[in-house]
Amino acid sequence: MDRVGIGIIGCGNISAAYLKAARAFPILDVKAVADLNPAAAEARGAEFGIPATTVDGLLADPGIEIVVNLTVPLAHVEVGLMAIAAGKHIHSEKPLAIDTAEARPLLDAARAKGLRVGCAPDTFLGGAHQTCRKLIDDGAIGQPLAGTAFFMCPGHERWHPSPGFFYLRGGGPVLDMAPYYVTDLVNLLGPVARVAAIAARARAVRTITSQPLAGQQIPVEVATHAAATLEFVSGPVVTMVMSFDVPRHRHRPIELYGSEGAMAVPDPNWFGGQIEIGTAAGDWRAVITEHAYANGNFRIIGVADMAHAIRKNRPHRASGELAYHVLEVMEAVQHSSDEGRHVRIESRPERPAMLPGDLMPGDLD
Ligand SMILES: NC(=O)c1ccc[n+]([C@@H]2O[C@H](COP(=O)([O-])OP(=O)(O)OC[C@H]3O[C@@H](n4cnc5c(N)ncnc54)[C@H](O)[C@@H]3O)[C@@H](O)[C@H]2O)c1
Repeated sequence: MDRVGIGIIGCGNISAAYLKAARAFPILDVKAVADLNPAAAEARGAEFGIPATTVDGLLADPGIEIVVNLTVPLAHVEVGLMAIAAGKHIHSEKPLAIDTAEARPLLDAARAKGLRVGCAPDTFLGGAHQTCRKLIDDGAIGQPLAGTAFFMCPGHERWHPSPGFFYLRGGGPVLDMAPYYVTDLVNLLGPVARVAAIAARARAVRTITSQPLAGQQIPVEVATHAAATLEFVSGPVVTMVMSFDVPRHRHRPIELYGSEGAMAVPDPNWFGGQIEIGTAAGDWRAVITEHAYANGNFRIIGVADMAHAIRKNRPHRASGELAYHVLEVMEAVQHSSDEGRHVRIESRPERPAMLPGDLMPGDLD
């Protein structure tokens, strides 16, 4: 199959993972990298043997069909709109935008030009999560009724080299981490119908402890602990907590409870991990992951899926409509807390199609 030309805008912390994972997918032809900061693009390009250019130069390259947008959240829509104006499909890091008001024009602009929008996370395409999806669809826990989803840590200022953006508008534990959890839950259970939540901000200022900025104080504009209840259209009620204020805990990332049993779903920030099924009568038992893409970091598989989808003229899975729904749910967490009411979710994306169970390494359908 014809390879698809890719250009990466944003050469910060996460870009190395994308460039490394791109090597696993023969369809992806990474042609150039760019960044507002030319030194960042030069350094990342040199590390991976890929030409560094300017953002304008990358957008003008006719060999690039998909722009992968790895900039900070506040720049996602601006860069996305530039790529669409240049006639490129776009795949963005999460979140799709910092709110739905900003996201809708991006999706509309792409649709008007017949271009695709994709968005991280694509970890739900990982082997463990696809196996969980098959187990749910095959009735392994009966009718799903409830669940829990927990991401709780003491904050990213302990490890990220420039963590300020995590505490500004567009950051916070919900916009930063809930995309993994809500996307995986929508993959497993279908779309969310309504949300109730309380969100809190423990501190107005935090201190960076990672290098090279250790000791620097950063302002906190956003809630840093959110406790939410998500009711899914298909019925289940899931308790979700996202926090940068928790020193240590013992909850599993996701558990789902059904009429016939319970399932422990591995960390949705990764592609693999141990799945377990438990019943009222027996203990937990481990389930073997059979789907491909469970062992490794394939954080570009959503782009590879879009590339195959372009060539085969089929829908891509990590879609803008899915990411928009996830964003609407995340936005509802803050709205519910601010307004003291349940918030109805309007968007109703289809669950993305399951990946075939028999894919060879590097291949997609
Ligand atoms: N770091 C991680 O582990 C991680 C994991 C998953 C997802 N993400 C997501 O990836 C995105 C980037 O995160 P990061 O950690 O790599 O951030 P980063 O700050 O390390 O890098 C972002 C890069 O984007 C560049 N940039 C900013 N605005 C730009 C613009 N308008 N045009 C061109 N370049 C621009 C910056 O110069 C910087 O080099 C975020 O959305 C984040 O949520 C990060």
